[in-house]
Amino acid sequence: MKVYLTREIPEIAEILLKKNGIKVNVFRKDNAIPQSTLIKNVRNAEGLISLLSDNIDRNVIDAMPKCRVIANYAVGYNNIDVDYAKNKGIIVTNTPDVLTESTAEITIALTLACSRRLPEGQELIQKSRFKGWGPKLLLGIELTGKYFGIIGAGRIGTAAAIRAKAFGTKILYCSNHKNEFLESATGAKKVTLSRLLAFSDVISLHLPLTPKSFHLLNKDKLNSLKPTAILINTARGEIIDENELIKMLKSNKIFAAGFDVYENEPYINPELLKLKNVVLLPHVGSGTIEARNKMAELTARNVIAVLSGRKAITPV
Ligand code: DGY
Repeated sequence: MKVYLTREIPEIAEILLKKNGIKVNVFRKDNAIPQSTLIKNVRNAEGLISLLSDNIDRNVIDAMPKCRVIANYAVGYNNIDVDYAKNKGIIVTNTPDVLTESTAEITIALTLACSRRLPEGQELIQKSRFKGWGPKLLLGIELTGKYFGIIGAGRIGTAAAIRAKAFGTKILYCSNHKNEFLESATGAKKVTLSRLLAFSDVISLHLPLTPKSFHLLNKDKLNSLKPTAILINTARGEIIDENELIKMLKSNKIFAAGFDVYENEPYINPELLKLKNVVLLPHVGSGTIEARNKMAELTARNVIAVLSGRKAITPV
């Protein structure tokens, strides 16, 4: 059995696959695999391990006539044409749960970095512009007593809300389903998207990218935010109309935005780089040693399960 891996991931994956008699071919360069190389290299693969940066479209799927499983090394799977894969009888898997805590932690890190203007403080020091304590120096926003609104109340949204609650915030959420656990753990209130946007002091996105969620936060929705709002995106860049948000940030129509993801990743709109009221991270939500190891293990176990004729552990 042969599996193609589009980039090196923690070694536990290759160890497990080999232990189970699976031959692994790896694209061992430290950059995303070019689409033409991917198509050329996957011909004999019975399984494919892909990253969120790989575009697993019809051309790639058609290039793998023997493929039985596509295991995405990510919880999001908007990079895969899942319907097409399913039509071809290919199981698609992802890595839920194992990166929940890491992504929730980065949500809080971004929230605090925005609310207390941490990058501006660091820049001041690094540029030797700190002239001593000042009563008006870099005043931020206190989280205590504020409304923390989560859009999408799945695993990561719930974990983020629990952490936000510990900072004394009141949780609002908007989701297709009532989340009893979230409500009992944090006292969260389920509200409509428009109420959430109008009332929240921090708005944090925790929903998958789908045709429905593309530009969910468009010009109109963004304009309904409070002028003191902080917007956090650790989900997918395309959920926000980035150009519209940049306009708002430029004219200080909201307090700040914290991004781990971008609309045209890895391209970063140069306008974003000029802004003071943003905190920008390079898509590292799941970037802890713990999460990445567990993601690698789960990815490999999914492949092994399907190639051994068992059910996938976490099919999408
Ligand atoms: C995912 O797994 O989808 C995350 O975006 C990785 O950080």
